Amino acid sequence: MGIKEEILRLKKEKNAVILAHYYVIPEVQDIADFVGDSFALAKKAKAIDASIIVFAGVSFMGESAKILNPDKKVLMPDLEADCPMAHMATLAKVQKMRDEIDDLAVVCYVNSTAELKKVSDVCVTSSNAVDIVRKLPQKNIYFIPDRHLASFVQKLVPEKNVILNDGYCPTHHAMSSEDVLKAKSAHPQALVFVHPECPEEVVCLADYAGSTAGIIQAVKQSESKEFIIGTEEGVLHELRKQNPEKTFYLLSENLVCEDMKKVTLEKLYQVLRDESNEVHLDSKTMSVAYKAMDTMLEMTK
Ligand code: 13P
Ligand code: SF4
Repeated sequence: MGIKEEILRLKKEKNAVILAHYYVIPEVQDIADFVGDSFALAKKAKAIDASIIVFAGVSFMGESAKILNPDKKVLMPDLEADCPMAHMATLAKVQKMRDEIDDLAVVCYVNSTAELKKVSDVCVTSSNAVDIVRKLPQKNIYFIPDRHLASFVQKLVPEKNVILNDGYCPTHHAMSSEDVLKAKSAHPQALVFVHPECPEEVVCLADYAGSTAGIIQAVKQSESKEFIIGTEEGVLHELRKQNPEKTFYLLSENLVCEDMKKVTLEKLYQVLRDESNEVHLDSKTMSVAYKAMDTMLEMTK
């Protein structure tokens, strides 16, 4: 039996579900029960009826699934697959902001550690950050950890005072306005669709900015035949599957998240077979972090 058949057999035998993010390698996306952006995956994790969740993604995604499903076994194909941005805010700075600024909400991008979620009022993803910030009663918003998603939100919700933190995603941060201009001159007919984790100078030049699922949906709805995509290259797999008649170019070279690429079929098979690499969080962390995650889900109902 090949590795794919073995995974499918184990999945059935153990009543397991495989969730995958659009940035993991195509082979892993293809074997998953559900592929999605961070928000869809969080919602799916909450609704899941299975004893084991195997999360093909990075640590914060596995942690979020565990926070939403404390009684389920959540397994990660590679425990070292971690989002660097998830650590780019500090508890001390959050406390300082709370001490110094009145009428403040701490808004935490899900790409963050469980410790950061614990001290936040609400979590957001790139697909709901604008709506949630708009709905919050507080005027001042300390947005952690991503400064680029924060400035994207500030532009669209000018009535709030969004305070930026200095975190960023190394993969998206590397794109520049010169890259956009270069890609446009190479492909003058193409529309530019980017992720809001890109720097503002890139988002400003784009025809559309949204989450990975947002980009996929916007491409589907567009009549254009060519697209320049400003996000991690893994998303091209779904874009090409859904739109074989359309052509996609990456906005710049090397749009690769090394951590997402650590997830392989072999590792997925091993953790499913051995029920290893389980996500463990203490019950206090889970119950406190749950509030910020659940507030997000409630605010988007
Ligand atoms: P979304 O899939 O929510 O757009 O997130 C992008 C990302 O960087 C996940 O790590
Ligand atoms: Fe983190 Fe960026 Fe990788 Fe997403 S693409 S997991 S934000 S490092």
